[in-house]
Amino acid sequence: MWDRLLVDCQIATMEERPGNPLGIIENGAIGIADGKVVRVGKRTELAGYRARQVDALGGAWVTPGLIDCHTHLVFGGTRADEHAIRRAGASYEEIANAGGGIASTVSRTAAASDEELLEHSRRRLHALMRGGCTTIEVKSGYGLDPASELRLLRIASQLGDGEPVRIVPTLLALHSIPAEQRDRRAHYVSEIVDKLIPAAAEQGLATSVDAFCDTIAFTPDEVERLFKAAAHHGLRVRLHAEQLSNHHGAALAARYHALSADHLEHLDEAGAKAMAAAGTVAVLLPGAFYALQEERKPPVDLLRKHRVPITVATDCNPGTSPLLSPTLAMNMACTLFGLTPEEAVAGMTINAARALGLAHSVGSIAAGKQADLCIWQVESLAELGYWIGLPGPDRRIFGGLDA
Ligand code: NIG
Ligand code: FE
Repeated sequence: MWDRLLVDCQIATMEERPGNPLGIIENGAIGIADGKVVRVGKRTELAGYRARQVDALGGAWVTPGLIDCHTHLVFGGTRADEHAIRRAGASYEEIANAGGGIASTVSRTAAASDEELLEHSRRRLHALMRGGCTTIEVKSGYGLDPASELRLLRIASQLGDGEPVRIVPTLLALHSIPAEQRDRRAHYVSEIVDKLIPAAAEQGLATSVDAFCDTIAFTPDEVERLFKAAAHHGLRVRLHAEQLSNHHGAALAARYHALSADHLEHLDEAGAKAMAAAGTVAVLLPGAFYALQEERKPPVDLLRKHRVPITVATDCNPGTSPLLSPTLAMNMACTLFGLTPEEAVAGMTINAARALGLAHSVGSIAAGKQADLCIWQVESLAELGYWIGLPGPDRRIFGGLDA
C-alpha cells in the first residue's frame, strides 16, 4: 500500500523520451511511498495500486519541485542605497571600486549576529519556497576571511533546519579582495587555498567551491590555484565566469570538470565547446542581467548548438540580483534571453539538479527520486514562463508531504 496517489493531472516528468523532451504524461498518476516516487505513468497504468491517500488534482500540471541552483541568500543588510546610485548613472564596477558593492555587504554581514542573519536569510528562503523551490543552493562569500566564510557556511546549512526544503551550501571562496589586502593578492589567495579549503572540506560544510573570475575580482591564475586545492580536497568546483568580460573562465572551469559555469554573457564558442565536452552546465542569471541593465546576452544559440545543458537561477543577492522569485527568473529567461518556456522549466528542474550534482535524486519525477513536486493550476506548462510575477505553484510537496 502506497502513502499517496496523485491522479487527474498532467505531468511534466522531465525524463526525456523520444519525441517528448519533457517526458509529458497526459492524464497521469504518481505513486508516493516513504517520501519517494515509486511509480509514475498513465492513470490507467497505475489503476491496480492502492494508497492511503488519493489526491485528485482537477487536471492541474505537476512538475518536479523547482531547484534554484545559484543564490547568495546569507547576507546582512541590503544594498537598496546602491540601487538609487546606479539609477543615477554609476556602474556596478564604479561602485565596487569606490568601496561599495560586495565590500559594503561584507561589513554589514560581519556586524550582524548569527540569529539576525538566520532570521533575515530565512525570509528570503521562504519567498523562494513560496515560489516553488524545494532545493536551493546557498553560497557563502560575504565573509572573505576563513573564519567568516566558515561561519556563513554553518548558517547556510542551519537555514534548512526544520524547513521543508533541501539546502545545498557552496563555499564561494574567492568572491572579492578585501580592501586592506589589495596589495597582497597572492598572500590573500594563499590564506583561502591553504586554510579555508581544507577546513571547509574537513568539516563537511560544502560539497563545491565557487569563485568570481572577472576584472574586478580574481584572475584565471588565482582561480586555478583554488580549483587545484578544491580537487585535492575532493570538492567539486563551479565558477562565476564571463559575466562582465571574457577571461576564458568557462574553459578553465571545464578543465576542472566544473559542475557549472554561471552568468556567461561574454562566453565565446571555445568556452561553450569546452563546457559541452566536460559536462559543465550553463547557469543563466537573468536577474543580474536585468538589474545591471546589461546589453550583452548570454549566447543561448551557442549553448544549444553544442548541447550544453542550460539552467536558470535567481542569483538572489543584495547587489546585482535582489530577485526572490523563481517564476520571475523563468519569465525573464524567456523574455530577456529567448529561452523557450520548456527550456526555462528544464532550467529550474532537471538541469538545475545536474548543476548541483544531484540529478540521481531530484530534478525529475521518476521512480526512486524524492517526491518533491509542484502542482500548478494552469492550462499549459508554457504559463510558467509566461506570467510576469506568478506567485508560485498552488501546492508544493516536499518528500511526499504537503509543504
Ligand atoms: O553573482 N558576480 C559576483 N557575485 C554576485 C554579486 C554579489 C554582489 O554584488 O553582492 C553575483 O552577481
Ligand atoms: Fe552569483
